[in-house]
Amino acid sequence: MRCTPLTFLLAGFGWLLLAALGGVASLVGLVQGTPLPTWLRPVHTHGALVGGLLQLALGGLLASAAKSSDSKKSASHTALFISFNIATAALIFCLGYRQGTLTGLAGLLLFGLVLSQARMAFARLQESLAGPTTPGWVLTLSFGALLAGLTIGVAMPFGLIPEYYAHARLAHIHLLLFGFSTMIGVAVIHRLLPEVFAVALSSSMIGRIVTMAMVAGSLALLGGFLTSSLKFELGIGALLILAAAFFITNLFRTWLRSPEPGSAAGDHLLIAGLFLLFTIVTGTFMGANYLTDSPMFPIGSLHLAAYTHMALIGFLVNVVLGAISYGLPTLLAEHRIPQTKKRQAYVAQLTGLLNRWRALPLVGMSLGTMGLAVIASMTWSHPLGSLAVRTATWVSAGLLVIGFAAFAAKLTWALGQKPSDPSA
Ligand code: HEM
Ligand code: HEM
Repeated sequence: MRCTPLTFLLAGFGWLLLAALGGVASLVGLVQGTPLPTWLRPVHTHGALVGGLLQLALGGLLASAAKSSDSKKSASHTALFISFNIATAALIFCLGYRQGTLTGLAGLLLFGLVLSQARMAFARLQESLAGPTTPGWVLTLSFGALLAGLTIGVAMPFGLIPEYYAHARLAHIHLLLFGFSTMIGVAVIHRLLPEVFAVALSSSMIGRIVTMAMVAGSLALLGGFLTSSLKFELGIGALLILAAAFFITNLFRTWLRSPEPGSAAGDHLLIAGLFLLFTIVTGTFMGANYLTDSPMFPIGSLHLAAYTHMALIGFLVNVVLGAISYGLPTLLAEHRIPQTKKRQAYVAQLTGLLNRWRALPLVGMSLGTMGLAVIASMTWSHPLGSLAVRTATWVSAGLLVIGFAAFAAKLTWALGQKPSDPSA
């Protein structure tokens, strides 16, 4: 068995699909009031985040390293692939059955595997993402956040300092999701969007200011969490809203100047930017809800999930799907056609294929994610088990499943398309 970067990307997407089904089960369970098994939560969360996002990031970096290497024959990463996936499954199993020490050991193995690729990953991040909009030190900081977040994740289950567990958990989540994933997501959009639209970014300076504001805002938010100062956090929220508004305006202006017709990659990256703005606006309003002693709107798990999934599906998953739609044709062509000159027609054929019905995954996922917010808001005026809330839940879950399944179908179709296949 030969495992290439593509194997990591496909397995990562597979984990994401499995986790999405777990998400649908959690959603339906929450609304119907059905008690769910404890293992479902880690299957959903760490399945999507470690098996999915972390593995996809690793696959993307390995693909970029293979492209930049002089060696004609691409390296195989079979041992890394197998051990990464076994360690992820073990981590999820142990989290699900609350096996503290074993969870820590599985985490340690995962962390070791990430460290074994750290030098390559850091070099590739710098080389592929640093530029006028993203200073190198921002990437260094994000990479530091990844390593710090993972270290805390490994330390938590050993229960060394139980009185700080809640703080450690918050730090683990925010370092990995905001410090690393979101910052890298913004850098990927800044880097890929101009390439996809074949035009320079409308303003590199605005791009750079947005990146700096996001870094400053997230560091200040961390300070706000530690000092528990709500008014300060809301002020930072307002700054981040402004930054996200400039970010999306800059992206739209770039799109408007593009000579290219629309594409799946461009659509996913633009919508991701829009969802980042929605997330920050919603987060700031959720904070404002606690300004008075008794919050105006009661907030439960469903409201929290609706909010977090604007970032998790609306932003992060869309960035991943945009990057896959853009990078996969070239990756497959390099795999399947040895002569560089003959690759162009195949890349165009695959890109055309991925662009077909591109509205389906986009609309399914976007409306499905917004649907979560609609369901959560409905619970303020309707009982959880009411027909209206249940109907909205099934519609939302259905849209999300259609969105994920449509992208999976296109991916399978592209993989099955051989270079000389005339049917495309
Ligand atoms: C079909 C898509 C999805 C649905 C319907 C869904 C649904 C849900 C629900 C209902 C919860 C709350 C569970 C509870 O409180 O017991 C949840 C939690 C969570 N989900 Fe998802 N999810 C989906 C996709 C994703 C994806 C793609 C990711 C990551 C990239 C993700 C990451 C998380 C995380 C980290 C939590 C725990 C924190 C929180 O409650 O927000 N989910 N999900
Ligand atoms: C070495 C790998 C990792 C280990 C050992 C680990 C460990 C843990 C532990 C012990 C918890 C607390 C569970 C609880 O209190 O019920 C947790 C929660 C969480 N972790 Fe990780 N983690 C790892 C990787 C990641 C990554 C890469 C991400 C994001 C990109 C992530 C995001 C989260 C989130 C969002 C939660 C909250 C989930 C929830 O509310 O159920 N973790 N992790």
